[in-house]
Amino acid sequence: MINTYFATVARGLEEIAAKELEFLGATMVKPDFTGVYFQGNKELLYRVNLWSRIIFRVLVPLQTIKSYNSEQLSKNIKKIDWSKYLQTQQTFAVNCTGKNDNLNHTHFTALQIKNAIVEQQQERLNTRSNIDTKNPDIIINAHIKNDNCTISLDSSGDSLHRRGYRPAMGLAPLKETLAAALLEMADWQPNLPFLDPMCGSGILAIEAAMKGLNIAPGLYRNKFSFQNWLDFEPAIYDRIVSEAKKQQLTQLKSPIFASDKERGIIEQARSNVTACGLDQDIKLSQINLDKIEAPTSEGIIICNPPYGKRVGNNQELGALYKLLGDTLKQKFKGWTAYILTGNKELSKQIGLRTARRIKVYNGSLLCTLLKYELY
Ligand SMILES: C[S@@+](CC[C@H](N)C(=O)[O-])C[C@H]1O[C@@H](n2cnc3c(N)ncnc32)[C@H](O)[C@@H]1O
Repeated sequence: MINTYFATVARGLEEIAAKELEFLGATMVKPDFTGVYFQGNKELLYRVNLWSRIIFRVLVPLQTIKSYNSEQLSKNIKKIDWSKYLQTQQTFAVNCTGKNDNLNHTHFTALQIKNAIVEQQQERLNTRSNIDTKNPDIIINAHIKNDNCTISLDSSGDSLHRRGYRPAMGLAPLKETLAAALLEMADWQPNLPFLDPMCGSGILAIEAAMKGLNIAPGLYRNKFSFQNWLDFEPAIYDRIVSEAKKQQLTQLKSPIFASDKERGIIEQARSNVTACGLDQDIKLSQINLDKIEAPTSEGIIICNPPYGKRVGNNQELGALYKLLGDTLKQKFKGWTAYILTGNKELSKQIGLRTARRIKVYNGSLLCTLLKYELY
């Protein structure tokens, strides 16, 4: 059976996510604001959760109901037969986004929906599900827009950017989904060496290695929410998991390097690299930028130096950006570099000709990914 799905994604990554979904086999792919609609069968739903590097979660829309105010919302929630999706021995949580004039507090709207669901269970079955906001079996997503509320099941559970491997966070870590998207924006292909000379928690190098070794990021997770659904088909899921394991490569085509000036930070990066079994694949070292040498004659650099809003202060940072520009120019001829920064003034200190500027949101911060051809 073909269903319509909605993949949620960080602002600005809709088009890249749409390409990834098409690559995974989705049809009728339609990017929207912070999400992408697509169609496919149950197997595709499982595959997208297991393989996507870019999206946060996949929602399965059930119904759009009228929700002018809380009374209408409750009445219409109770018209849905919840026994099809939630058993009374299962726990659940309701997440709500959006608002209208009467339903203008997402927390309260979620509570209204939760109450209506358990009232239906009490009336029909004389017992009810418990709420678990931390680790629920079933997650219901409600999105209010004007007088409508779209009710969906969340198939992913924990956001897919939490790959399940990262205990150590560095100073200002990128989300794994953003790191994977930056690799796509830079058009990094596994046959090119990769270097992040300011690697922090090592996320960019780890995402590059996972892509280079064709590792499905979902393999690091314990569970997806769809595994608790009544219609879950373990045979399909087990097959795509074992196919994913078989498709994994044992060796990278080109080396992946990551370094940082701080010993403690490199130790954190190492613990992350170890947690995902990539010790043999990522060459980590503690090096200050002023001592770094190009490890190969060509390759792609992607890095995000501190940009003042979260880490560091502007005067010192100006000197750091200048050092970065000088280092790239003098030592990395033949390479292409991408620098993500949220500070235009600092980026001027790099002093190199920009080949391309790509707008990127890092959380809510509008940043630019600057491309430099080094020759
Ligand atoms: C914003 S963080 C990078 C975060 C990283 N992308 C992540 O996802 O965890 C910037 C990093 O640059 C490093 N750094 C600052 N100055 C440096 C220098 N002179 N040489 C090498 N690394 C430096 C810091 O130690 C910090 O870990």
